[in-house]
Amino acid sequence: MNQEYAKLIIGDKTIELPVLNGTEGGKAVDISRLYEEHGLTTFDSSLANTAFCKSTITYIDGDEGILRYHGIPIEQFDRPKPNFVEVAYLLIFGKLPTTNELADFRTRLTDNELLHEGIRRQFNDLPPKSPPMAILSAMLSQLACYHEKFLPLGDDELFVEAVARLVSKARTIAAYSYRRSQGLPFTYPDPNMRYCANFLHMMFSIPHLQYTVSEAVEDALNLVLILHADHEQNCSTATVRVVGSARANLFASCAAGVSALWGPLHGGANVEVMRMLEGIHVGGMTPEDCLEAAKDKANPFRLYGFGHRVYKNYDPRAKILRAACDRVFAALKTPDPLLDIARKLEEIALADPYFIDRKLYPNVDFYSGILLRAMGIPTNMFTVVFALGRLPGWISQWKEQHDDAGQRIIRPRQLYTGNNLTHYVPIEDRE
Ligand code: CMC
Repeated sequence: MNQEYAKLIIGDKTIELPVLNGTEGGKAVDISRLYEEHGLTTFDSSLANTAFCKSTITYIDGDEGILRYHGIPIEQFDRPKPNFVEVAYLLIFGKLPTTNELADFRTRLTDNELLHEGIRRQFNDLPPKSPPMAILSAMLSQLACYHEKFLPLGDDELFVEAVARLVSKARTIAAYSYRRSQGLPFTYPDPNMRYCANFLHMMFSIPHLQYTVSEAVEDALNLVLILHADHEQNCSTATVRVVGSARANLFASCAAGVSALWGPLHGGANVEVMRMLEGIHVGGMTPEDCLEAAKDKANPFRLYGFGHRVYKNYDPRAKILRAACDRVFAALKTPDPLLDIARKLEEIALADPYFIDRKLYPNVDFYSGILLRAMGIPTNMFTVVFALGRLPGWISQWKEQHDDAGQRIIRPRQLYTGNNLTHYVPIEDRE
């Protein structure tokens, strides 16, 4: 195919810029040599319109509401039985595993599920009310202290072993952060349990009472983790890439991803959704009040769980979660009034010109909290569960970048709008 160029006319100069083509028809104007060759930068506040890497992992069409992992539509991971470990393998290693590969990966996860006693003891010194996301970020970073041999990842076997440690230990750390907040003794992982069942066991079993994992809850957790597993260059994944581009190790890079995910405009939104729905339920606000507050520009409140930088259509993950809520509530026979409130809010928002004009639809966080609550997961653990799901995505994006020989340190430019040359004034001469 002939190289296509875009023309940039500036003053009396015409600059030709190569146009790059994605596999699904996306086009990007390549401006990477614009500064070196012409002394110009582009301005793109918050990188809203900048492709800052090439990636083969996840495809999103925000207008059509399409999400695919390595080409496979997200809907196909829902039934007949969602399997998070299989999807994690797909994302990290770029292919669906064979039976043997999946069994081997599971064994590696099981072999690495315990924490070093040094890490485990640290939980005791944390304040009981420590936010679990703070614990997760800190402890993922600390894995570097206990697994030094994985800091430079020279070969594929080291990478697989590092992945097994990260994915497995993150689950144990997550469960222990909850146990700490409840003042409960830690429950060791059970090597005979599958990934999600084992997480639920570590969260909820107590010494004299083993928690029985229901199939409906285990499936729902698998589904939630799968739906969160990757979402191309979102805030936390971009963070992981930025940190990783400095050749920071995998543990440190993913710990930075957790910190980014914690924010209420990103992974923390599911917590805000529950606060909002509970606020309506206890009678402080009606769904209509909530909508009016979200539309009021003088009010910082937003309709949490609505809107997305990329989706200008129904988020396909929200659609799957909405349907899953029906299945899980039917299986558990525990209706939740918050689900009815969410449905009502969705109905009135989707009919409101403010939301229609701005193409604001439910995103993944709108229904995920209700589902997690049905599974017995407490609100302060919602974003932690999101992080467990997103971990394979962060790892795969980190590795893709690590293996890209042409990758340079990520270092955006700015348009300086500060003082012109100003001189230092000694303190005694300042007014
Ligand atoms: N409620 C009310 N108004 C909204 C909302 C909302 N939830 N979302 C966007 N808007 C308005 C926004 O005020 C702006 O209005 P105007 O054009 O009049 O200034 C317009 O819609 C465009 O919004 P934006 O903030 O420029 O969009 P963005 O792409 O920068 O932000 C977002 C995307 C997800 C941060 C934003 O929609 C939002 O704050 N939503 C609520 C928080 C939320 O649910 N976050 C989870 C996102 S999905 C999972 C994840 O990424 O973790």
